[in-house]
Amino acid sequence: IADADLAERLRSAIRTIPDYPKPGIMFRDITTLLSNGPAFRDAVNAMADRFRGERIDCVAGIEARGFVLGAAVAHAMGVGFVPIRKSGKLPHKTISREYALEYGTDRLEVHIDALPDGARVLVIDDLIATGGTALAGVELVEELGGDVVAAAFVIDLPDLGGAARLAERGVHVEILLS
Ligand code: PRP
Ligand code: ADE
Repeated sequence: IADADLAERLRSAIRTIPDYPKPGIMFRDITTLLSNGPAFRDAVNAMADRFRGERIDCVAGIEARGFVLGAAVAHAMGVGFVPIRKSGKLPHKTISREYALEYGTDRLEVHIDALPDGARVLVIDDLIATGGTALAGVELVEELGGDVVAAAFVIDLPDLGGAARLAERGVHVEILLS
């Protein structure tokens, strides 16, 4: 399935909810993509295909929507999955990174022993907006000694500049739909 056809297929499977969770936000709701079997499969296979022939040792997915996509992509690639979680959810020793949201801050954590040293890691989330979340995830992987091969997202909101911010930081970015 060609990139343009895929983007159109995904676009029609995702709905936009105005003014959620706050006035002025156009919320991209991927629940309708996840519940559409063929569209979900196409999204997962397209992400895995972007890295065909590259050595990837594991997928790191960002809670919560990055878990659904990331775990499916890891399964498709035949590699393991590492959860990057919101604070207070992981039982073993962690490292953490605070990041800015539109109002206030949040914190992501990963287990200190989640990656073998030098692991080649694909970071996955459903969507990149300002890039704060993804950058925190990338920095956690790097702090663990991982090598971030790329960060991949189904949706980019280019007006918010997150993909450009990651690229400036030297991260290879893959997007299915912008
Ligand atoms: C959403 C989305 C990304 C993040 C993108 O997650 O799934 O993780 O926002 O925004 P940013 O690029 O401006 O950082 P959210 O924080 O809403 O959490 P959720 O996945 O638990 O719903
Ligand atoms: N995370 C940050 N901005 C978002 C948006 N517009 N839709 C869905 N998730 C988001």
